Amino acid sequence: MSRIHKLSPRLANQIAAGEVVERPASVVKELLENSLDAGARKVDIDVENGGIKLIRIRDNGMGIDQSDLPMALSRHATSKIDTLDDLEAVATLGFRGEALASISSVSRLALTSRPRKHGTAVIPDVAPEDEGPFFQHEAVSERQNNSSDDGAWKVEAEGRDMDAKVSPAAHPEGTTLEVRDLFFNTPARRKFLKTEKTEFGHLEEVVKRQALSRFEVGFSLRHNQKTIHSLRPASTLQDKERRVAALCGSQFMESSVVIDVEASGLKLWGWVAQPTFSRSKADLQYFFVNGRVIRDRLVAHAVKQAYRDVLYHGRHSAFVLYLELDPANVDVNVHPTKHEVRFRDGRLVHDFIFRSLHKALADVRPDDRLNPNESAAQSGDMIFSGQGVTPGSLVSGGQLSEGASASPSYSPSYGSQAAMPLRDAIPRSAIQEQMAGYGELHPEMARGEAAIAVLNDSNESDQLEPPLGFAIAQLHGIYILSQSSKGLIVVDMHAAHERITYERMKHAYADQGVKAQPLLVPVTIAVSQREASVAEEYEEQFQKLGLQIERMGPESLVIRQVPAFLRNADSEQLVRDVISDVSEHGTSDRVEALANEMMATMACHGSVRANRQLTLPEMNALLRDMEVTERSGQCNHGRPTWTVVTMSELDKLFLRGR
Ligand SMILES: Nc1ncnc2c1ncn2[C@@H]1O[C@H](COP(=O)(O)OP(=O)(O)O)[C@@H](O)[C@H]1O
Ligand SMILES: [Mg+2]
Repeated sequence: MSRIHKLSPRLANQIAAGEVVERPASVVKELLENSLDAGARKVDIDVENGGIKLIRIRDNGMGIDQSDLPMALSRHATSKIDTLDDLEAVATLGFRGEALASISSVSRLALTSRPRKHGTAVIPDVAPEDEGPFFQHEAVSERQNNSSDDGAWKVEAEGRDMDAKVSPAAHPEGTTLEVRDLFFNTPARRKFLKTEKTEFGHLEEVVKRQALSRFEVGFSLRHNQKTIHSLRPASTLQDKERRVAALCGSQFMESSVVIDVEASGLKLWGWVAQPTFSRSKADLQYFFVNGRVIRDRLVAHAVKQAYRDVLYHGRHSAFVLYLELDPANVDVNVHPTKHEVRFRDGRLVHDFIFRSLHKALADVRPDDRLNPNESAAQSGDMIFSGQGVTPGSLVSGGQLSEGASASPSYSPSYGSQAAMPLRDAIPRSAIQEQMAGYGELHPEMARGEAAIAVLNDSNESDQLEPPLGFAIAQLHGIYILSQSSKGLIVVDMHAAHERITYERMKHAYADQGVKAQPLLVPVTIAVSQREASVAEEYEEQFQKLGLQIERMGPESLVIRQVPAFLRNADSEQLVRDVISDVSEHGTSDRVEALANEMMATMACHGSVRANRQLTLPEMNALLRDMEVTERSGQCNHGRPTWTVVTMSELDKLFLRGR
């Protein structure tokens, strides 16, 4: 053993680099964050060999003063915070003052910068409609170098003490970071690097996230001299959607719903894919908190819960979402790479995210897909103004007793159809007849009348065509074929009926609440002290869920009552899960989730099976039901329930009108 001694700065930095610099992608993340923190409006990223050989990032941000340059590369040196108080409400992406020191200890790093002249504005963005080349650094650089030749400096760190060597250089306003030969001096870490392709994949993902986080900034990414992305600044919703489509695929954009909700100091906006666009991996899920990309369990849980009911097991939702809140209410200093955050009021944030998404997904009706433009604006408004579909709006029949507010949610969708005259207007009396037929078929639902009531509410309904048109036939006992002015609508009748039945059961359940049933033999379970205290503390909440749990001793609980419909479930497991949810999120949706699962099964068994012949009135009644049912666009497993083949698509098939 040798004597205790101080580590050299380089070695100390190399050790610190272990935490933040894992691969080229992590270097890019840190450098991009610095550029964005410096107020850059465009950032050019150039990499070679997946970033292993070279990463060059050039920005037009505020630059660094010559006198500050030597500091920039030293550890625990930052311009972003001064005091602990600043950290409480930090608005920049960086603040730890470690990145450049760490990176330069494990690579050949050079920083070249020219500070923005006092009072000089940012180099103006090229207007979006300007078709000229967006990235014009070369031209800018020439001009500025002619006007002044001593404003730019370059700094590198040398030796084991990482002494800063500063030398004059040519550079426009802004900063360029060049990182060559990552891990050249730490062979053990270099061995962990994967192939060029894999490393570039990670790196591109990082760029993608940053580009999604700052629409007002232009980005370009080149790999081995080839342009991979070239993104102009985006200000309008349309420009933003174009950027999202470029980064996440146009399929995603086409299948998603716009979110824009604000409440209690929180704002959530962005795009969520409808459940019919699901992924086998959770690889299209972007969540930003105050412009920072995060992966957070609380957020993930809230989103998952919102999709719970509409996604097939094992499938993943897709979304690009932005949460904005007072920086003082979120702690970003909980992880070295700042991927995680801690919310001051986690429960509020969780509920807000869940509710907003849940509602937005429930609001999607057949009509929205047929008139996507109107609906995007409409659903946005509806959510924004807080008058979206309420749970009570499902039926107006009265039998299920929650029908009071049926028409408000329904008429808007009919309203947007007003401009679409029916080709072969079917008299209302005929519809009523059809509905009545369906009502007889399902007296327990009494849906026919309900739908007619709604139809009667929307005036001029004689002139209007329902979004899903009118049934003309049944195909192989599986599909309903329906004619609308748009073309042919094909409905999977079992899937559709299943969803309708399920939604209806859920409403009845929500209405009647949870009925508790005492256990004949109370169940005693052993838990940790902490769990026992949680159970005690939340006794009232548990009661509401139909659970009566009492503390027996320091480490034991007794379950006396469970929700009636779960009497056959494993009550011990249920209680354990509920307690763990509550202690983590302050709330639990287990009982509801289980209830939903059971109802889904019941709905499946209770729904029209394939190969059952339906009459036209029955089919039409089912179509009308779909139009007024939440989430009717997909079955309980997330598969679509219907699709449309438009007239022009049919015309194309038959080479008509060419
Ligand atoms: N692209 C850049 N433009 C302007 N200043 C920069 C840039 N990159 C780094 N800096 C300066 O160097 C300092 C150190 O950067 P870094 O090591 O990443 O720490 P941090 O970002 O946590 O402050 C920053 O605080 C900033 O003042
Ligand atoms: Mg930084």
